[in-house]
Parts: sequence; structure tokens; C-alpha cells
Amino acid sequence: MSDKITTFKLKHLKEAGQKISVLTAYDHAFARLLDEAGIDILLVGDSLGMVALGHETTLPVTMEMMLHHTAAVARAARRALVVADMPFLSYQVSIEEAVRNAGRFLQEAGAKAVKLEGGQAIASTVRRLTELGIPVMGHLGFTPQSVHRIGGHRVQGRSEEAARRMIEDARALEAAGAFAIVLELVPKELSALITESVSVPTIGIGAGPACDGQVLVIYDILGLFERPLKHSKTYAPVGAMIREAARAFREEIASGAFPSDENSFSMEEETLLRLKDNRVQGSGDRV
Ligand code: KIV
Repeated sequence: MSDKITTFKLKHLKEAGQKISVLTAYDHAFARLLDEAGIDILLVGDSLGMVALGHETTLPVTMEMMLHHTAAVARAARRALVVADMPFLSYQVSIEEAVRNAGRFLQEAGAKAVKLEGGQAIASTVRRLTELGIPVMGHLGFTPQSVHRIGGHRVQGRSEEAARRMIEDARALEAAGAFAIVLELVPKELSALITESVSVPTIGIGAGPACDGQVLVIYDILGLFERPLKHSKTYAPVGAMIREAARAFREEIASGAFPSDENSFSMEEETLLRLKDNRVQGSGDRV
């Protein structure tokens, strides 16, 4: 049997109690390394707009940006399932537009699935996409495309009413055919309840250990921003290493230590002599 991760396999992993690992990826080089490391899902998140493109929110991210980065990631993935985030306004206006845009991720960029933010409000869109063969991952809790309505990066579902609504949203996504549901910034007790209430895997980010899998932003686990995030963890201080490498490079350029003879190419001595002779003759002619 192929080792490739499919949406079908993910459900089996949940049933077998095996946890699912998900990292965001935005380019080919990172995607290749994460795939080789055995990460199950590479999520081309629209967090791209913030961490790779420097925007304040995910709202300025466009279809063209997402297609461009998804294609780079998909070309690297051998085993991992590549999921592309549908950007703001690419699926909310009408089901027809959602189908057309979601289809582009599979047809043009090589993604195997798309991710949409929202619950009952987008359930009919999720149903249509899955009916047409486009696998959908849901996203509940803190949904970054609604940051202005929510009023910041806040934990969601703390009140009984909000928690009940989120459980209903998760059930609606499952009934509509979603193959997995991201839970972002959700109290760990509520994530546990949702994880028990649905048969599809839940993937947490700031949602505690009970979820069937976990997702983090790759630049955060590498400490590229060195920002304190309660829900994340720095697995390797690569940010500090990059700054140190750049500083060492700058110093070696300034001192002339790089490039050395070892890093340089040479040519036949006779060719060089002829070139030098010509140059002397040439300059003589000009004089
Ligand atoms: O855009 C993103 O990276 C995400 C994950 C953090 C879940 O949606």
C-alpha cells in the first residue's frame, strides 16, 4: 500500500488513535524538508500573508498569491497531503465562485484539498464542493479572516452558548462532508468534546492535547519571529542562527576572508597569458 497520506487515511488514523502532524508550508524548499520529515499534512495557510508577505492580517491574500505558493509546495510533496487555504472572499460570495476557485487549487496548483473558515454558515458550500470531488477541511474557533468582527486574536467558545454553537458548527461541517476540522484558540475541554462528537479528525492550534492532530506555523516552530505565543513552541532557534550566519557573511565580505581560493574557479594559465598579452597590445593600440 502506498505511504501517501489521503483524506481517507486520516479518518483511519483518528480511529486508530494515531495523532496527525500538520505544519504550514509556503515554498518548495521548506515543503521538501517537511515532507521528508514525515509531516502528514502541508497546509498552505493564508497566514502566508502575515508571516511571509508582511501583512497585518490574512485579509489582503488573493487567489493568485495562494495558487502561486500552493503550486511550489505541491511540487515538493511526495507523501504529505497538500491542503490550500481558500483566501478571504474566494468562497463566501456564492457557491459557484467557491467551486470555481476551489477547483483551481486542484487543477492548477496540485493541491489535494482546500480549507475554508466557518461552520453552519458555509455548510452548503462545503457540501457542494465535496459532492463535486473537492475535499474540504473546516476551520472553527478563532477564524483569522473574521479578525475584525472578533476584535483580535481571542480564544473562542468560552461561554456555554458559544461552545454549543461551535459543537453544532463542527457537526454541520462533518454532515456536509468535511474530512477534518481545524480548531484554533479553543479551550482544551471544548476541543475534547468536539473531538468526541465528530468522526472526522480535529486538528488543533491552541486547542489543547485532545485533538486528533496538531498544526503550527512553520516559522513559529523555527523561531523566525521570536514572538511569544502561548500556543506554539520553538523546536529549533533557526531565526537566531540565520541572523548569526548573515552577520558572519557580512564580516567575511568586509575582511576579504570570503571568497577564498577554495570558493573560486580558475582558468588555463596559457589562456590567461594570451588574454593579458592582448590587453597590453589593445591598450597600446588605443594609445
Ligand atoms: O493560515 C494558517 O496558517 C492556518 C493555520 C494556522 C490553521 O489557518
